[in-house]
Amino acid sequence: MTIQHVHARRIWDSRGRPTVEVEVANADGTLGIGIAPAGASRGTREAAELRDGGTRFGGRDVQQALAAVQREIEPALAGREAADQAGIDAMLIALDGTPDKSRLGGNTLIATSLAVLHAAAAQARQPLWQYLAQGRPVQLPLPQVQIFGGGAHAGRRVDVQDFMVIATGAESFAHAMEMTAEVYRAAGELMAQRGSLAGVADEGGWWPSFARNEDALDALVAAIERAGYVPGGEVAIALDIAASEFGHGGRYRLALENQELDSDGLCERLVGWVDRYPIVSIEDPLAEDDEAGLAAFTHAVGHRVQVVGDDYLVTNASRVRQAADRGACNCALIKPNQAGTITETLAALQAAQERGYATIVSARSGETEDVAIVHLATGWNAGQLKVGSFARSERMAKWNEGIRIESRAGAPAGFRGRAALRGKQ
Ligand code: PGA
Ligand code: ZN
Repeated sequence: MTIQHVHARRIWDSRGRPTVEVEVANADGTLGIGIAPAGASRGTREAAELRDGGTRFGGRDVQQALAAVQREIEPALAGREAADQAGIDAMLIALDGTPDKSRLGGNTLIATSLAVLHAAAAQARQPLWQYLAQGRPVQLPLPQVQIFGGGAHAGRRVDVQDFMVIATGAESFAHAMEMTAEVYRAAGELMAQRGSLAGVADEGGWWPSFARNEDALDALVAAIERAGYVPGGEVAIALDIAASEFGHGGRYRLALENQELDSDGLCERLVGWVDRYPIVSIEDPLAEDDEAGLAAFTHAVGHRVQVVGDDYLVTNASRVRQAADRGACNCALIKPNQAGTITETLAALQAAQERGYATIVSARSGETEDVAIVHLATGWNAGQLKVGSFARSERMAKWNEGIRIESRAGAPAGFRGRAALRGKQ
């Protein structure tokens, strides 16, 4: 059964900004819908977004992207098999014709590629995770959940972007959610008691009213204890430093502490945190342009913590292979819209797994009710999932979908749990 219609429409993301939704209809009447998410702390090598510019909606309208779908993509997709994901993605890449997907837009292409994937699963009458698993045994991923949101997601109130927890003691996905709910609530109570409760950041984490980055770490440990868990034993800490946001050319400016550090200085500071706090995962500890720093940091602590590449690896298979050759990072963050197509996203994930890297499928700070990434993380057996905090429905929709997948008949073969963190360690 072949693709009959492709329709694009503008919908709105969790920041109230325009985004692209693509609907692919098969001749048998089954449908697939794909939605482009949007990052705020983007890697420079990500697939480029196509935005209209000008003044309307802050220059972020997507009329050109919608027009591109109707004018160029629909005619190219009509009559093709939705199940031919690799063939369709190769065609989309060729149709765009630019190295960074700037002509048709990475946002246009990922919405289309995801819609095709959903259409193929619908045609096969299977939930997406099961369609992707192709009969292989898979497990529900271990979640990384934000408790305090900083960096570019909170007006740069603190330098570090994500202060997260991982329920290392959880026995199921649903159990990890229960444990996280208690820590999130305890953290909110703690902030209220201190008189520093000031709402939430872009991904739903508590607003980080702290005087030092380390105060947020202390508060996180206190919240884990207040929730009744053993820090490091039952609930551990994960950080996304997002260092590309405050560092270039080997110089890092910590605004909160009014300090400038070189690569070694930041590396030393973070190793100190790893020594003093129950941290099991650190993302983008150094900037995307500081490969030597990333390798040095991985050499120093990679045997005991997961070192995650986001801005540095940008969900790109050849960048993952190069990083592995240079000993930088031991885990890859996998964001479909950084790559621009599902096929390239999967290639990056497979390249990471082949090199012994752990993998985390991740949402963006600008999200919607779309829950596809939970199915990708499960069906591809990625091991871990990161979708922001434990508040706001664009985040909760994803956590709730994980609970649904886990509890339905024909569910995946259990929960990966802390074993997912192994990586190269
Ligand atoms: P972004 O940030 O979606 O705003 O780019 C998420 C991350 O850095 O992991
Ligand atoms: Zn990141």
